[in-house]
Amino acid sequence: MNTSTLETPSINQSVDFMPLLGTDYVELYVGNAKQSAHYYKTAFGFQSLAYAGPETGVRDRVSYVLIQDKIRLVLTSPLNSTHPIAEHHKKHGDGVKVLALWVDDAYYAYEEATKRGGKSYMEPQTLNDEHGEVRLAGIHTYGEVVHIFVERKNYSGIFMPGFVAWKSEYNPKPTGLKYVDHCVGNVGWNQMNPWVKYYEDVLGFRNILSFDDKDISTEYSALMSKVMSNGNGYVKFPINEPAEGKKRSQVEEYLDFYEGEGVQHIAVATNNIIETVTDLKSRGVEFLKIPASYYETVLDRVGEIDEDLKPLSELGILIDRDDEDICCKYFLNPSKIVQPCSSKSYNAKAPKVSAKEISRPCLKRWNWNKRTEGIYKNPDFSILNISYLIFMIEMWSSLMILFSMLLNMKFEKVWYNAHIYCI
Ligand SMILES: [Fe+2]
Repeated sequence: MNTSTLETPSINQSVDFMPLLGTDYVELYVGNAKQSAHYYKTAFGFQSLAYAGPETGVRDRVSYVLIQDKIRLVLTSPLNSTHPIAEHHKKHGDGVKVLALWVDDAYYAYEEATKRGGKSYMEPQTLNDEHGEVRLAGIHTYGEVVHIFVERKNYSGIFMPGFVAWKSEYNPKPTGLKYVDHCVGNVGWNQMNPWVKYYEDVLGFRNILSFDDKDISTEYSALMSKVMSNGNGYVKFPINEPAEGKKRSQVEEYLDFYEGEGVQHIAVATNNIIETVTDLKSRGVEFLKIPASYYETVLDRVGEIDEDLKPLSELGILIDRDDEDICCKYFLNPSKIVQPCSSKSYNAKAPKVSAKEISRPCLKRWNWNKRTEGIYKNPDFSILNISYLIFMIEMWSSLMILFSMLLNMKFEKVWYNAHIYCI
């Protein structure tokens, strides 16, 4: 099976004690794997690849494997309510459990990682079937996420032993998604640097880019981020932590809703973001709305671009520039579509604009507001709760202000003013 990653120039191979060949697969624990698989096929154009479950001798779970170009998604659900996967899902909802790393020698990778401080998740093991062998081993990372080293050089089967080919008569066309560009982790307050050090020490990653709270901030919400890359640049893991802003950081909001640290988003690359986004929209995928005013000034920030601005603005595609090239981004939840800049560097040289745009859904999320903190998960929540009453008074005040603005101002200006009252 061809699992090669798109060509990416080397960042530093001289001290790479952990050579990674790319992202092997991403596994999500989900409530209903079959329905999720249908969604990713229908909406994103993934193809059926493999299946494991009771019919294949697996008693406690079902897994559907999807593929699109170099991207493999494994969607797994438990078969009983007491299974650890069920506990994971009860706590987090659908979420990423495994960021699997393709290696040439899984036993070596595990030995190197654990002797450098990596916490073992899976002892090295070899799986066999008539197509050969796959060797696996795993370590923990932030939250409940794990990295599994996958060695498949002596395997010719469809995915790995234990899985059978999943043949389906329903095969929506691909949407042009090519490979996993990067996977972002959200960690707790003051936890970014410890995890940066973890990736440096355990996996030999390097910090290739850093953003402080001044770089990535909206008017009210802030975060800090460091982009970690492995030696050859094939695998990139940005690590985010909340930063103090006027209101709650979006990372803090994630930590509250996900109930812990975890993968914030998976960025996938396409060679033609206009075609891909057009296709995704036609399939019902919803994206963030970007106001027309963004495109009136974007070229002042990023300079001239080769692409025609009109289709980018019609589709609401954000534009950034790194040292060498232009990149385009498109945000949806919980994924991000990227048409990469030069592949050498991470594509967020000008994240301030993007961060502002992606904060817009806060307009509809009352819990974004620091003033309401504690209400959302208060077990004693009731109509008699004094916090609830204060919240309702503030909500009504805000609504009245918004309503008066709608009556008196042009729509475009209302948005910005409403934004202030929301967050
Ligand atoms: Fe990203």
